[in-house]
Amino acid sequence: MSVRAVIRKRISIRHYKPTPVPEEVLQAVVDSGENSVALDDDIGVRFQLITEGRLVAERMAFLTGTRFLFGSAPHFIIAMSEERPLFMLNMGFRMEQMILFATAQGLGTCWVGGLFTEERIGSLLNLQKGERVIALTPVGYPDTSFYGRLARDIIEVGAMNRGRRKALEQIAYGAHWGMPLETQDSELLEALECARLAPSWANTQPWRFLVDVKKVIAAADTTSRYGNIREGKHYYCLDVGIAMSHFFLAAREMGWQGSWQVAGFDPLQIAREHTIPQGYEVLGIYRRS
Ligand SMILES: Cc1cc2nc3c(=O)[nH]c(=O)nc-3n(C[C@H](O)[C@H](O)[C@H](O)COP(=O)(O)O)c2cc1C
Repeated sequence: MSVRAVIRKRISIRHYKPTPVPEEVLQAVVDSGENSVALDDDIGVRFQLITEGRLVAERMAFLTGTRFLFGSAPHFIIAMSEERPLFMLNMGFRMEQMILFATAQGLGTCWVGGLFTEERIGSLLNLQKGERVIALTPVGYPDTSFYGRLARDIIEVGAMNRGRRKALEQIAYGAHWGMPLETQDSELLEALECARLAPSWANTQPWRFLVDVKKVIAAADTTSRYGNIREGKHYYCLDVGIAMSHFFLAAREMGWQGSWQVAGFDPLQIAREHTIPQGYEVLGIYRRS
């Protein structure tokens, strides 16, 4: 299956069948995270498989874990990162590659950033100094029964836009903020469409893209909402990393050679040049070579 088809197939799964996933498949999922393309290779990340899902579920928040959500997950993978500049952006970019790999294997996943504390989950892990727990995902075969679907629907009603994505015109502009994107480049439009479909914290979709000659600028809406800044971690950066990952993977599949540059430029100067308003932060520049 193409990565673009997998991007369209992936949804958050919060209820699972009890069937365990074969060990070699779980290991392949972890490997896909460990071997994922990074935005910054100097930031150490780790993906820890917990085969006995109950151990994680028990440490999750009230109404989750063993009570209502996620308690049925046979396994979990916990994502940890060194706390360094761009660590949230980098984790979004990397872990989404693992999520998409798992989806391609027919497995269900769900980004979870909010229903745990680092302290409680950290007790399961051998955390190194300066290492943070960023997110976790259940892994298992989706429960497609009525109850499983109902649980998903209830959560989506509480998420922004009821789980629907913003229109492309609302997230992708021309070279200046708010300027309509006028392009006939079907590959560029496809890569942006894949970015548009990315999952995000409570479906807040904080990503914006500006398209200039041969480059695409990614910016984040830095508004704090739905608790997306937690324990010093800015989840809107992680969300934009996920959308950048979708863009990168789709473009690569279509034969583009480009990559995201996330350092070595002055974000304020880029914002001025492209009339990006206050409250938005420039996080990356994709250059097509
Ligand atoms: C960084 C991040 C954190 C998330 N945290 C949670 C969470 O704590 N609990 C939850 O049920 N869903 C969580 N989600 C899933 C989103 O609610 C979901 O991706 C969004 O509503 C879009 O739905 P979809 O993934 O089915 O397309 C999170 C997603 C992301 C990207």
